[in-house]
Amino acid sequence: MGQRVIIANDHGAIELKQQIATHLESKGFEVENIGVDTTDSVDYPDIAEKACKIFLAGDYAFGIVCCGTGIGISIAANKVDGIRCALPQNIFAATMAKEHNNANFIAFGGRIEYGDDVLKMVDAFIDTEFEGGRHADRVNKIMGLQD
Ligand code: RB5
Repeated sequence: MGQRVIIANDHGAIELKQQIATHLESKGFEVENIGVDTTDSVDYPDIAEKACKIFLAGDYAFGIVCCGTGIGISIAANKVDGIRCALPQNIFAATMAKEHNNANFIAFGGRIEYGDDVLKMVDAFIDTEFEGGRHADRVNKIMGLQD
């Protein structure tokens, strides 16, 4: 069985969530979708909280959260102790989200027109290793802000 990934979305990112989930499954990940699949309006903080709590309680490689812009759901995810959710703009930022920030969640917006292919951004995040060293010190400082 492949590594597990949790994915969640509000009504603003149904199609994007499905594309990412299908892509991850094609790469061998076991994807747990706890987002919505209908256009009924929901509150993204509730979706973020649920995804983050399931992630923290389980054995997941990382999580992905999506809303219309990715902004609200990433802000909400980052309020949960233990979560570092990046909102990458492009492939470079997705790479750095792992290499420098060791993000455990990444967020995307279903209503955003990205210059880079979102699936390539996801791949860049997956394929990159955390560099550690001085970046570990900085990440520890970030997490210390939540104490
Ligand atoms: C929902 O309409 C929208 O506000 C939400 O998906 C997200 O874009 C918020 O940041």
